[in-house]
Amino acid sequence: MEIKTYLNEQRQQVEKYLIDLVLEPVGTFSKHIESMRYSLFAGGKRIRPILCLAAAAAVDSKEDTFQRALPVGCALECIHTYSLIHDDLPAMDDDDLRRGKPTNHTVFGEAAAILAGDGLLTFAFDLLSGPVSAATPDSARIRIIQTIARAAGPLGMVGGQSLDMIYAGKLVGYDELRSIHRSKTGALITASVVSGAIVAGADEAQEEALKTYGDNIGLAFQIVDDLLDVEATTEQLGKPAGSDIKSDKVTYPSLFGKETSRTMAREAVQEALAALTLFDKQADPLRALANYIVERNK
Ligand code: IPE
Ligand code: IPE
Ligand code: MG
Ligand code: MG
Ligand code: MG
Repeated sequence: MEIKTYLNEQRQQVEKYLIDLVLEPVGTFSKHIESMRYSLFAGGKRIRPILCLAAAAAVDSKEDTFQRALPVGCALECIHTYSLIHDDLPAMDDDDLRRGKPTNHTVFGEAAAILAGDGLLTFAFDLLSGPVSAATPDSARIRIIQTIARAAGPLGMVGGQSLDMIYAGKLVGYDELRSIHRSKTGALITASVVSGAIVAGADEAQEEALKTYGDNIGLAFQIVDDLLDVEATTEQLGKPAGSDIKSDKVTYPSLFGKETSRTMAREAVQEALAALTLFDKQADPLRALANYIVERNK
């Protein structure tokens, strides 16, 4: 399969759904909603919703399943976008470019940017628990909400972001670095895959396999993000290259060098692929996504 075509098609489906779903910038809260929409529609690869859709399709390729996975994918994208807005704040990575545009706080101010993030995070749980997700049985919905809440929360993304800040400028070992990456980025990626599996009614073995796949591509994703920070250009990334060096972050390339980091990312992808052996060709998009994650150039 041609991964570029696949990614484009899936991204368009996600965008279309997201545009209809998200609050309109009218009425009393229009300014706040405008700031949320600014970052949400600034671009972005939409990898997390695409992973959610691909995992659902690997388990059950019916159109109804795809439709029920869409709001879950959009909720994941809202949470991810919130994490980017907060990640760029002066108190965190202090970056001024994101998704090829000035960062949220440089346009709307810091207070509005913090609140745009808060708005997106809470809106995500409205999507997961509200009428747009009502076609999914409640037992599955509760598991999805729990999976995503755990991944985004203190033992997942937020916890990882906290470690990322605490360890900046410090001597960090391999275990700590891997744990930062698994939590700050890996957790939400795993949750994207697992929530897609749950929406599609995966059995225990399928869900476990998809979790292993998610854990491995999640780690690979952040290793490659670190590599791109030192290898790619700002124009290519749509965010400032060299941000990690500026903030004295511990990264895979800073600890292991570029070549070993690339090898470690590729090894994680091989493990992800190995976890998919119980799936047939319905999981081919997941296989292509794993390879894309490590070979991407933005
Ligand atoms: C960037 O994520 C932040 C990380 C968690 C590494 P993406 O590379 O998915 O960013 P967008 O969504 O495409 O902008
Ligand atoms: C961020 O990691 C992970 C998040 C949870 C947002 P980075 O700080 O490396 O992400 P970028 O490079 O700014 O996108
Ligand atoms: Mg950061
Ligand atoms: Mg950053
Ligand atoms: Mg980075």
